[in-house]
Amino acid sequence: MHPFQCVLRARRCLRRGPLASVSWLLLRTCRAHSSVPSFACPSPQRQQEDGVWKDFSSRLATGPTFQDFLRSASVPPEQPSSSEVEDPPPYLTVDELLGRQRRVYLETYGCQMNVNDTEIAWSILQKSGYLRTSNLQEADVILLVTCSIREKAEQTIWNRLHQLKSLKSKRLRSRVPLRIGILGCMAERLKEEILNREKMVDILAGPDAYRDLPRLLAVAESGQQAANVLLSLDETYADVMPVQTSPSATSAFVSIMRGCDNMCSYCIVPFTRGRERSRPVASILEEVRKLSEQVLQLIRERDNICKQIHLPAQSGSSRVLEAMRRGYSREAYVELIHHIRESIPGVSLSSDFIAGFCGETEEDHLQTVSLLREVQYNIGFLFAYSMRQKTRAYHRLKDDIPEEVKLRRLEELITVFREEATKANKSFVGCTQLVLVEGPSKRSAADLCGRNDGNLKVIFADVEMEDATDSGLRVRAQPGDYVLVKITSASSQTLKGHVLCKTTLKDSTAYC
Ligand code: 5AD
Repeated sequence: MHPFQCVLRARRCLRRGPLASVSWLLLRTCRAHSSVPSFACPSPQRQQEDGVWKDFSSRLATGPTFQDFLRSASVPPEQPSSSEVEDPPPYLTVDELLGRQRRVYLETYGCQMNVNDTEIAWSILQKSGYLRTSNLQEADVILLVTCSIREKAEQTIWNRLHQLKSLKSKRLRSRVPLRIGILGCMAERLKEEILNREKMVDILAGPDAYRDLPRLLAVAESGQQAANVLLSLDETYADVMPVQTSPSATSAFVSIMRGCDNMCSYCIVPFTRGRERSRPVASILEEVRKLSEQVLQLIRERDNICKQIHLPAQSGSSRVLEAMRRGYSREAYVELIHHIRESIPGVSLSSDFIAGFCGETEEDHLQTVSLLREVQYNIGFLFAYSMRQKTRAYHRLKDDIPEEVKLRRLEELITVFREEATKANKSFVGCTQLVLVEGPSKRSAADLCGRNDGNLKVIFADVEMEDATDSGLRVRAQPGDYVLVKITSASSQTLKGHVLCKTTLKDSTAYC
């Protein structure tokens, strides 16, 4: 087993707020069965470095993707409860509105809005008791989320419908009949023309009609064609949480508006997607909050994700934060810290701070000192403010803190940070930590350096140890190995200890 480490940045659109940094995750990963041999022969250092790099890159190229870490952590599908299912129209029963485990195959064409619409359509159907399949042959319902932007886009759908026609006609009588639906812009533009031209299409749903999908499918169940192509002035699906549909997706869409009023002279979109309308801000924030929650849950659950979060505060004074236009107060920041600590016990926290920002008073500075004491960060990056041209502060604010005052405040912040980090790190003394080995220590060739689960540097002597993964064998730790280290001392920057044995991420957890 050859573990490696990679840094992953998942962007979420949280403007400048501290939550934005929740998405900086340090992933510690390990491949179960690497076929790449590890380098063993001693060779000149340059050659060895090249070897390390090649070995690392080839393992990276063939290693797991982000999705491998998420696959089994996805939120379990919600089961439909009868209270959640819409009231049926007089000609249908509640039972008929339910999906009854029918399998839906969704195919998306066109723009990113259609990707998001697919997630919305699926969210609605999932709540109604439908199952999802990525296997066309297994599907009971095939839905195409279509595009009308250019003629070619529509032609692609007509061609696809031709193929699906034969699939439908070959369907075994022993199975429920296959239902085919056209969703989105093409349904909106052509309306019943589609039903007339392709009799095998069972349902049509325009971009504002996805809530009606369970009813449309229930009507289709009786063998009739069903359509809803009504456009709305206010439908934003604000309350429908999209379900990420692509198994290889590394990002999620948060849609903030629908429709278009621009009426560019060549464009069909205002006619297929209707009037422009924005989602209520509260519902956008709620969706982003849920995404952030999922990230925190993932960090807590997964041993192969490092439990460290970088949450740059910049200042402990709400007044200065406002001048910086950070978009949060000290109180909101502290609340978030508490939430993260509750969500991920033992999480390691790091932050950035700026000393001497424009207009910072001694009282503001003391607020920053008190935030450093209150949070007790494990890792910190502290800077004296330096005015940068083109920034808003350059144009609008005065760089009025004398250089010597900035430096004195910075020194004070550094001292307090170090005191608190030392206290926090000392709690590891006597504990055994699982450490991912990085390589030789910068300070001494006789020592190795690695990182614990909180991304803290751990230094230990490069000596032979037992390989617990290969009983009895005596080995030296190599970059990428996991080892257990008993911590004997701690400073504000590093932990020191002696190595106990080589292990694996799976077999071992740190203990005190
Ligand atoms: N002066 C001082 N520190 C700055 N940073 C960004 N801009 C400045 C500046 N003009 C710091 C912030 C940021 C980190 C990357 O650099 O703390 O989080």
